[in-house]
Amino acid sequence: MAGSFETTSNATAIKPPFWVLAELTYRCPLHCVFCSNPVNLDTITTELDTQTWKDMLAQARELGAVQLGFSGGEPLQRDDLEELVAYAHELGFYTNLITSGVGLIESRAKALKTAGLDHVQLSFQDSTAELNDFLSHTRTFELKQRVAKLIKSQGWPMVMNVVLHRHNLAHVGKIIEMALDLDAQYLELANTQYYGWAWKNRLALMPSKDQLLHAETVVNDYRKRIGDRCQIIFVVPDYFEDRPKACMNGWGNVFLAIAPDGLAMPCHAARELPGLNLPNVQTSSVHEIWYESQAFNAYRGEAWMAEPCRSCDERHKDFGGCRCQAWLLTGQANQADPVCSKSPYHERVVHLINRPCPSSNEQPLVFRQNTGLSDRE
Ligand code: FES
Repeated sequence: MAGSFETTSNATAIKPPFWVLAELTYRCPLHCVFCSNPVNLDTITTELDTQTWKDMLAQARELGAVQLGFSGGEPLQRDDLEELVAYAHELGFYTNLITSGVGLIESRAKALKTAGLDHVQLSFQDSTAELNDFLSHTRTFELKQRVAKLIKSQGWPMVMNVVLHRHNLAHVGKIIEMALDLDAQYLELANTQYYGWAWKNRLALMPSKDQLLHAETVVNDYRKRIGDRCQIIFVVPDYFEDRPKACMNGWGNVFLAIAPDGLAMPCHAARELPGLNLPNVQTSSVHEIWYESQAFNAYRGEAWMAEPCRSCDERHKDFGGCRCQAWLLTGQANQADPVCSKSPYHERVVHLINRPCPSSNEQPLVFRQNTGLSDRE
């Protein structure tokens, strides 16, 4: 029954998934420097067919999942997006399209509305055409402006998402003004998370503490002035905190991501974590994946924790932080996330955030390459 707790012997107390992220395709027309998808996308050339996606969605809903995000890559690259949205809507999912806007023309917007799409999250790279187009290495700024109006014309609530970093943090006020002009209900200002391709560019993207503090002040001033007109969510980069984020709200706790090739992952970056035997929806049921698989149980609960997490009284709050970040920064996925000041590796984060920002000549940005995928577009 949807929403129930599993009661089989080795699955006691594991809650069903709440959030499903369906990464329909890794094809993407943009080349964003802060992309958090895996670096080696060109080696992943297969995509699940429509029926396999439907089977997977039905199973996830049966287990109790409620929220569904369609993302990618660019999900609008899939011709069957409308069919999948309609099916998910029938199943009772709350559906969200996470898009760059490329491909959202009026006829598709109308078809998605008819299919029952609940919500659209539209990304911008900046408030200026110049920087938006530079960071994505595409001319998409004007298109995104048109798409924002199209989203509003269909009556969808709009979340505008802008990834922040040292190249656009100074524009945060203008970004808020743009969101107000486009009548966004929510503006998510998400500081870059350093995974996948973004990890490659971390030294060129990481802001200074002064930049961050200034941006936060601007955001707070706007919040006071605009009240409920637009809710601004400012996600501080956790490198600058002294406690880690509760990544994924706990491993295998609420979040289930399915990659274009059917790989099931407890977080969208898990493909790059060593030691995981990631299951695939083509060969395992969603029930087996969620409750039984090695990968989803690897960092569930607390038994895997090393010290200082194991005896820390904050472990129920942050679950030891992010496994992918622990691995990237220490080479061991079961370590405390080094963002935590109690981690023996915390100095590595401190060193990263305190190093002088390199010039663009010293540390040029590397644009996302989608080689091997373009021939299928
Ligand atoms: Fe993988 Fe945090 S992104 S656990």
